[in-house]
Amino acid sequence: MALLIRGGEIVTAESRSRCDIVVEGETITRMGVDLDGPAGAEVIEARGKLIFPGFIDPHVHIHLPFMATFAKDTHTTASKAALVGGTTTFIEMVCPSRNEDTLAGYNQWKRKAAGASACDYAFHMAVTHWDAQAEAQLREIVADGTTSFKIFLAYKNFFGVSDEEMFGALKLAAELGVMVTAHCENAELIGHRQQQLLAEGKTGPEWHEPSRPEAVEAEGTARFAHFLGETGASGYVVHLSCIPALRAAVEAKLKGTNIHVESVVPHFLLDKSYAEREGLEGMKNVMSPPLRDKRNQRALWNALEAGLIDTVGTDHCPFDVEQKLLGVDAFTQIPNGIPGIEDRVNLMYTYGVKRGRLDIHRFVDALSTRPARLFGLFPRKGTIAVGADADLVIYDPEYCGTISAAAQLTNNDYNSFEGFAIEGRAEVVTVRGAVQVRDGKFVGDTARGQLLRRTPHAHCEVRDDG
Ligand code: URP
Ligand code: ZN
Ligand code: ZN
Repeated sequence: MALLIRGGEIVTAESRSRCDIVVEGETITRMGVDLDGPAGAEVIEARGKLIFPGFIDPHVHIHLPFMATFAKDTHTTASKAALVGGTTTFIEMVCPSRNEDTLAGYNQWKRKAAGASACDYAFHMAVTHWDAQAEAQLREIVADGTTSFKIFLAYKNFFGVSDEEMFGALKLAAELGVMVTAHCENAELIGHRQQQLLAEGKTGPEWHEPSRPEAVEAEGTARFAHFLGETGASGYVVHLSCIPALRAAVEAKLKGTNIHVESVVPHFLLDKSYAEREGLEGMKNVMSPPLRDKRNQRALWNALEAGLIDTVGTDHCPFDVEQKLLGVDAFTQIPNGIPGIEDRVNLMYTYGVKRGRLDIHRFVDALSTRPARLFGLFPRKGTIAVGADADLVIYDPEYCGTISAAAQLTNNDYNSFEGFAIEGRAEVVTVRGAVQVRDGKFVGDTARGQLLRRTPHAHCEVRDDG
C-alpha cells in the first residue's frame, strides 16, 4: 500500500527539513511540502517527529557457532529486535571455523537467513583459512554479491588467520575491490597472557581485560594497517575500543592507507568495571576486545564526532546466563559477546545527540549513511531521497523509557544496558515501504527481509562533507 508521511522533520547526514514523503511500492517517489498522496494511500502523521533513514548495523552475529556453543538469536528474533530499535538493515558476519569449507559455510548462512528475516540484510564473508580452494570460492561469493570480507587476527585455531593468510586475503580483496573488515588483536600475546593468568589462579572475568590489554589491540590494528598499505586493499577495523588502537588507525589514515574504523556501543558506554563485577554479573559483560578503562570513552566520543571513527555498530552477539556460566572456572571459557542490536540507535541518540557529544547529522552518518557508503548499499540505503528504498524511521524525540531485558525482543535473559534511560524511540519503521513497527511494537511480516546483493568497488564511494 502507498504511504503519505506528513509533516515530519527529515534528518539525513547532510540536512534537516520539514517535508512530506510519498512512498509507492518499495520506493520513495516524492518529497515536498503539502503533498497529496496517491488514492488509497495510508496517511501517517509525523508532526513533532524526526524522520531518519533506516539505520544500518554493520556488524552483527546471529548464527554463530563459537566457544563451544551458539549465539542465541535466530534471524527472526534478531531482525524483530533490530526493527523496534530503528535498524532496517544489518550486515551479518558469516563465520565458518577454519577447518570448514568456505563456500559451504556461506551457503549455510544464506539458508539460515532466507525467508526468516523481518528486515533487509547482507553478509561479510569471513576468511578463516587460505588456500587455492578458498580463494576460488571467495571469488564465487563476491560474484554472488557479498562484497566484503572479515578476518580475525584473534581466536587462534578457530577463526584466526596467520599473517600469511591475511596477506592472501588482502591481495584478493585489492584485486576484486572488496572491503576487508578485521578483528585486530594479537592472538599469540593473548594466548600467552591467558595461560600465565590461569597458572596464577586468576580465573574470574575481571582477568579478561588484562589478558588482552590495549597494547595487544594496538599491535593488531597497526599490523592490519601495515598489510593494507602493502597490498593496497581497503580495510575496516571492527569494534575498536581504545586510544592506542585509535592512534594506530589514525596514523595509518594520515599516511594515506585506505582504512576505516568502527566502534561499538558497549565501548562508548560501558567500562571494564562492568566485567569486574562479581561472578556471573561480570561474565555477562565479557566481550573482545574487552570493555576498557573509562578514560578511553571520551576519546571515542571525540573521534566519532570528528569522523575519525567512521561508524557505530553493535557486534550484537547474545549468549544467555547458562552459556556465560561455561566460563565459571576460567575466564577463557566465557563465550565472548554482548548483544545490542535493539538498543544501538536509542543509546547513541540519548547519550550522544541529546547529551551534546554527537552532532545529529554525524549520528545519522555513523549509524546509517556511512555503513551504506562503505559497504556498497548507498544510495539505495542510508539516505532519504526520491528513488531510495523506503526504509524510514519515524522517531519520537520526546519519548522517555528504560532499557530492560524483560521487555526486549532479543533472545536473551539479560541486557548489559539494563536500567539505562533512553530519551527517544522509533515509533514507526518501514522496510521498503511496508510498515513493520507501529507505536514502537513489531507488527510486520517476519519474512519481509531480502538479501542485499552488492557490487565491488561501490564501497570506495565515501564522501567527507565535514
Ligand atoms: O566478543 C565478541 N566480540 N564476540 C563476537 C565475536 C567477535 O569477536 O566479533
Ligand atoms: Zn571480533
Ligand atoms: Zn563481531
